[in-house]
Amino acid sequence: MHNFATKENNNNNSPIERLKEISSWVSSVLDLDQLLELIIEKATFMMRAKASSLLLLDKKTRKLYFKVATGEKKDEVRKYEINLGQGIAGYVAEKGEPLLIQDVTKDPRWYKKISESTGFETKSIACVPMKMNGDIIGVVEIIDKEDGSPIQPQDMRLLTVFADLASQAISSAQKIDKVRKENQDLREELSQKYQIIGESRALKKVISDAFKVANSKTSTMILGESGTGKELLARLIHKAGPRKEDPLVIINCAALPDTLLEAELFGYEKGAFTGATTRKIGKFEIADGGTIFLDEIGEMSPGMQAKLLRVLQEGVFYRVGGNTPISVDVRVISATNRDIAKEVEEGRFREDLYYRLNVVQIHMPSLRERKEDIPLLANHFLQLFRQEKGLPHLTISRAAMEKMVRYDWPGNIRELRNAMERAVVMGNGKEILPEDLPIFSPRKAQQGITVGMTLKEAVDAFKKDFIVQNLKHTGGNRTEAAKIMGIQRTYLSRMISKYDLRDI
Ligand SMILES: Nc1ncnc2c1ncn2[C@@H]1O[C@H](COP(=O)(O)OP(=O)(O)OP(=O)(O)O)[C@@H](O)[C@H]1O
Ligand SMILES: [Mg+2]
Repeated sequence: MHNFATKENNNNNSPIERLKEISSWVSSVLDLDQLLELIIEKATFMMRAKASSLLLLDKKTRKLYFKVATGEKKDEVRKYEINLGQGIAGYVAEKGEPLLIQDVTKDPRWYKKISESTGFETKSIACVPMKMNGDIIGVVEIIDKEDGSPIQPQDMRLLTVFADLASQAISSAQKIDKVRKENQDLREELSQKYQIIGESRALKKVISDAFKVANSKTSTMILGESGTGKELLARLIHKAGPRKEDPLVIINCAALPDTLLEAELFGYEKGAFTGATTRKIGKFEIADGGTIFLDEIGEMSPGMQAKLLRVLQEGVFYRVGGNTPISVDVRVISATNRDIAKEVEEGRFREDLYYRLNVVQIHMPSLRERKEDIPLLANHFLQLFRQEKGLPHLTISRAAMEKMVRYDWPGNIRELRNAMERAVVMGNGKEILPEDLPIFSPRKAQQGITVGMTLKEAVDAFKKDFIVQNLKHTGGNRTEAAKIMGIQRTYLSRMISKYDLRDI
């Protein structure tokens, strides 16, 4: 993939010059995997080694795995993992001291298995640790010189320089990630994306409960209709507690089939199944120290419920295809819009899991139960969208506001937000009018339609119902109703006589 041969042949630079060149990559190559590969390839080349590799330490499993390998058996060795303390690499990773062994067959620390099964004859190995802030993060090793000469002490010095470069590369990649994340957090805070708006007593109670649970690790279940702000509340609980600097990991349990959900939650080892070409860290592990938010928990299958229960009971889990128990410190918040107690009663949701998740329960009130928040929310979204769409002077007319307060909002705050967005975009740009708001209950409009009717009869039934609803909505104001439905006032009058709706 990377061919340096021509470059190498053309210049007579000293090793120091060459190293300077490599150092400059560390700041210029943004892709970490590619950078580590470049570093190891260069090390192999400069030391004329037969093979070399970079192994990283997985802190959870305390195993080293091959991140980069060169040499004729490079693809085969990547399958192996080495326990901390096992073999020469494991020894160096454990002790943190470099090691040069001229004849491995005479050294009791040598772990023969890999060479034997790949058929790669090994005589000497030089191995140095990689460190970051005093912690050992992995090792770099070279195996034998191409010409059969012994590995020299100066090779060890060079290898140490390469190991340091690789550590620096990893450290700067992590720093870049951190800066990215901080920027994102800052942007989110600035955009007030996760602000919870509302002054109603019902909402205030919910928020004060959230602050109370935030300070402990108590498992919390958030119940409430769709669009009431369950996810927003989960974010608040996380952000208001001592874990706020650690990750909040959100996973929607309804979005994935079981096998994928399991892999997402617990991760998998390389080769665990077809397509698992690299190891993947699961959400539980990513959330270590922080919070995991299991959204739509009510949709979880019985099989996954059993697996989740085991993790919560035992505090440990295994990556798919792995056999090392991994323990994490994670706070669990879950949410569902189902009537979960009923799900338990009817046997669709495990009772034991329910008790684990539902130590504290918070119920998000629907928007119907706190209509006094509607104007606040409407203005909040108005501000948001008029800024976004460049209409700074747009306001909400009194009639439109009244219409919103009267409406039942089956989709709750999400529906209100969408309605405001549409109104901002579709309106006249000065004032939001009732007809700009796409709100009426579509479910009711289909009442009275049944199998057995002709299409014409069904269409008539629908039309009649639809017109009735709109007339009711506007308090009998035909001009307004016609506007909302996007039809001529005269056509509406004809329909009113046809369906005999004069009394509305
Ligand atoms: N009190 C609030 N103040 C401001 N915005 C809110 C509030 N409650 C909800 N929202 C907004 O409404 C939308 C829906 O909220 P959220 O996704 O948290 O609801 P949910 O209960 O998780 O819904 P679902 O059950 O459909 O997943 C989001 O855009 C959210 O930002
Ligand atoms: Mg949600």
